[in-house]
Amino acid sequence: MHLLVTGGAGFIGSNFVSQTLRSKVHPDIPSDVRITVLDALTYASGRAFIEADIQAFPDRCRLIQGSILDRDLVFALVNECDAVVHFAAESHNDNSLHDPTLFVETNVNGTLTLLEAAREYDKRFHHVSTDEVYGDLPLNDSGKFHEASPYRPSSPYSASKAGADHLVNAWVRSFGLNATISNCSNNYGPRQHVEKLVPRTITERLQGRRPRVYGTGANVRDWIHVDDHNRGIWDVLLRGRSGQTYLIGASGEASNLDVVRTINELMGYPADDFEFVKDRPGHDLRYAIDASKIEGDLGWRPQRTNFREGLAETIEWYKENRAWWESEKTATEARLSKWGY
Ligand code: NAD
Ligand code: DAU
Repeated sequence: MHLLVTGGAGFIGSNFVSQTLRSKVHPDIPSDVRITVLDALTYASGRAFIEADIQAFPDRCRLIQGSILDRDLVFALVNECDAVVHFAAESHNDNSLHDPTLFVETNVNGTLTLLEAAREYDKRFHHVSTDEVYGDLPLNDSGKFHEASPYRPSSPYSASKAGADHLVNAWVRSFGLNATISNCSNNYGPRQHVEKLVPRTITERLQGRRPRVYGTGANVRDWIHVDDHNRGIWDVLLRGRSGQTYLIGASGEASNLDVVRTINELMGYPADDFEFVKDRPGHDLRYAIDASKIEGDLGWRPQRTNFREGLAETIEWYKENRAWWESEKTATEARLSKWGY
């Protein structure tokens, strides 16, 4: 099996590539799977992760630096592969509020280019999407997102991901493309860019500053370890039905206050040692996933459900990999501070 993995140098994609080549995460990963990573190597990527994989598996992994918007390149690479796993995206909500055009170009037009190539060469296509396409849920409520929830995106990021989802579904219905979608909740784990809540909080502490909480901190996210997400993607790739959407979530609801307090405690600081900053415009209140479809149809179950333990491991990873994130940290903090965060 030859996979084309777009965005394979990013947070979730690079974990997917490394774990797949080592036959981890899922018991049924074919042992001969080969991977071509197509990644533009933007600020959010980790080239070193893929280079390490290429060194370890020179016959099974290669990196093509390029954009999913480059039609000729995309068509040539899709033609060579058996299946496309599409992670590439601009992924950060705050950035999308300041440069929405980039998000539409990458997330909508980039997906369009890939879909056209998959249609031309009749390839299996899996689109990695987000729960944010469904908007948000009320706080202090038991409702959850499910596959039939209405699309109601709030930010330019989530709107662009929703647009991409609609294109995938249209290519299945109109052109018979063999495609699936997974919509997952907030991932955490190693290799995530320092602009996101968990790594930002950890690395602020490691550089001697207090974490920042947007608004009241009451907003709730449904946390899942990146390995559980990637195992779900393998389940969909191996057994998912074309035209189907699968929601992936690990019942890991926690408020932002809970997350920051837990990281503070794990790192030896008083739980409430953080600062409140301004709120994110249009800030989604709560996400929560009903994962009963992927559990019932495909037998997926989350395994890394101890959030505190997962956070402790993630803290260790950031302590041991300062060289990777420190190079990005200064520019990220300058940007976030300019925006009032
Ligand atoms: P990320 O920002 O860490 O990585 C994105 C990768 O895409 C980077 O390596 C970047 O260089 C690459 N990329 C960006 N523009 C490109 C282009 N034009 N051509 C080729 N490559 C390009 O993102 P992530 O957190 O790993 O998310 C991966 C996917 O999963 C995204 O589609 C995102 O919407 C989705 N998702 C993320 C989460 C989460 O919690 N992080 C949850 C659910 C779904
Ligand atoms: O739900 C899935 C989505 O989760 C993915 O599709 C996105 O790609 C991913 O970035 C993530 O989106 P969020 O906006 O939820 O993640 P972020 O880490 O930016 O913020 C999480 C919450 O923490 C959110 O309510 C904003 C808040 N926050 C964030 C930062 C960076 C803070 O309170 N302080 C911070 O310093």
